[in-house]
Formats: sequence, structure tokens, C-alpha cells
Amino acid sequence: MSGGISDYTQYIVDLRRHMWLSGVPTELRRLIWQVATTGKYISAKIQESNRKLAGLQNIYHEEQLALDRSSDEILVAQLANTGLVREYLSEEREAPIKLGTGTEKYIITADPLDGSSLVETNLTIGTIIGIHKKEPLGSTGRKTLCGALYILYGPLITMVYSAGKGSHEFVLNREGEYVLSQANIQLKEKGSIYSLGGLRKDWLSGHAAFANSLEEQGYKLRYSGGLVPDLNQILIKQGGIFSYPQLRSNPRGKLRLLFELQPMAFLFEGAGGAATNGEKDILDIKVDHLDQCAPIYIGSKHEVALAKQHTARGKA
Ligand code: AHG
Ligand code: MN
Ligand code: MN
Repeated sequence: MSGGISDYTQYIVDLRRHMWLSGVPTELRRLIWQVATTGKYISAKIQESNRKLAGLQNIYHEEQLALDRSSDEILVAQLANTGLVREYLSEEREAPIKLGTGTEKYIITADPLDGSSLVETNLTIGTIIGIHKKEPLGSTGRKTLCGALYILYGPLITMVYSAGKGSHEFVLNREGEYVLSQANIQLKEKGSIYSLGGLRKDWLSGHAAFANSLEEQGYKLRYSGGLVPDLNQILIKQGGIFSYPQLRSNPRGKLRLLFELQPMAFLFEGAGGAATNGEKDILDIKVDHLDQCAPIYIGSKHEVALAKQHTARGKA
């Protein structure tokens, strides 16, 4: 049988068809598709800046910093006046901005480019998006989130989304379409990889005991310093644990509740996993301010429960 486009299309389930089949509401389908498509333009921007890898360190450095902001600008340009988004909150902006008349259905939170410090090393980076139907500030993710996605700029561009009915992985094909690669990702009860941020000397005793316990059980260390690939690995390997804990030097941890942790917690819970700050589910933590950080343990349920036991014990 020829491999022509006509034969090819009858087998693929692309992003729009998947969301329609899953009963995702029309406007939410349009918004998820719009954001996922924006990943293509952000990826082009990353490639553009990578051209400067040839030792133009100073210029490149400025280019690298600009990449966070230009990714943010690309998202705003794509989402403004779509009739879908009334407000946009970004890691790259001091305050929320209005994107329309104020009557639109959704509010977007964005980490436009996560892991930008890795660009010069050509490691994998990502974009993290939260989709809220109500104001996220002053509330909890459990009450306001209706969707989340991340885009991974790796050897392939992949995207994982959830609209509250499972978490699903798509890959950007050569025709520029996102096609379904894994539906309903399900984390096993227990995994075999662990990914721990922060310096060991800064860890509190409970967290250090948790790390030792994982090592004694033979968990394999996988940590790139990019939140999106580090979490994607646990999701696709269907198990394991990621943590960026509270540190002696930084009791709130490093990662941002609104822009990084809430969307990832939504996606992991959608895949049968869990996400906690060591005491409370991430999605039950009230967001008091835009750049609020929280410690995080996220992954398969067995390891998250183990982490809670250790952190409750060793607060010292
Ligand atoms: P961002 O590039 O959006 O600021 O995020 C970087 C974060 C996250 O990607 C990662 O998990 C963490 O920084 C890594 O921190 P360390 O470099 O301290 O390991
Ligand atoms: Mn980030
Ligand atoms: Mn970022």
C-alpha cells in the first residue's frame, strides 16, 4: 500500500480529533490547540538562537536571556484577541495582563520557556501552560484549573495535555500536526527513577533520609535541571519521583506554584500520580501571590507517600 498522505491520515488521531472524541468543550479544544501550535513558533525561536552556539558567548548570552521574553511575546501574540483568553499570567511578567474584552472564558498561566539556562548546552527544554476557568490568585488549582499542557523541545517536539479526562502525549509530525502517541498515560503505583534538585548539603534531614532510602532501594538517578524533561521522563516511564525540596537556604523551595507546579500536578494527577509539598497536595495550596514558590514531590503514588512520611518526620 502506498504511504501517501491519504493512507496516512486514516490512521492518525490528531490533537483536534482526540479532544473532540474525548468530549472536551469546544472553546477549550480551540485554546489547547492554539497553545500547542504556538510551540512550533517557540521552537523556531530556540533554533534561531541556537545558531549563535558557535562560540559567540557574549552575544549568545544576551540572546539566551531574550529567549524567555521572546517566547512570552509569541504566546501573547497567539492568544490575544482569540476570544478565548481574558487574562494572561506569566513567569516573565510582574503582573497579569488582559487579553481581550474581559468576558472571555479562560485565564492562562505560562512558564513560556522552562530551563532556558540549558539552551546553550542544547539540552531539552519546555513550555508549561495552565488553563483556568476562574481567577487562580487567591484560590487553589483544584478549584480553578480546567486544563494544563507542556511542550517538550527535544529530538522530537512532544506535547502532553489534560483537560481533566486523562493525560495524553502527542508528537509533532513532519506535516506539522500533533498526532497521538500515547493516550491515557497511567503511572504505575511504584517506579524506578528519582530526580532530586537542590544541593545535598542544603537538604533537611527528612529529605536526605528520603533520598538515602531511594538510593538503598536501587532507584536510578535521572536529573537534567530541566523541569519539563525531568518530569516527562517519569510520566513516560510510568513511575518514579521528582522533588525540588525545601532547602535550609530556601524553605519555600525554588519552583513556582502557579507557573510550574500547578500545571504539572494537574497532568500527573490525570495520569494517576500525585503531587505534594510534603504535607499538602499541590492543587490544594492557596495561591497568595504571583511568584509564590513551594517545595514539591511529584510522581507515582508510592514514592510520594514515602516522601510525605520522611518529610513529616525530619523537619529539622
Ligand atoms: P526556568 O528556566 O523557567 O527558570 O526554570 C528552571 C527550573 C526548572 O526547570 C528546574 O527544575 C530547576 O530550575 C532546576 O534548578 P537547579 O538549576 O537549581 O537544579
Ligand atoms: Mn520554569
Ligand atoms: Mn521559565
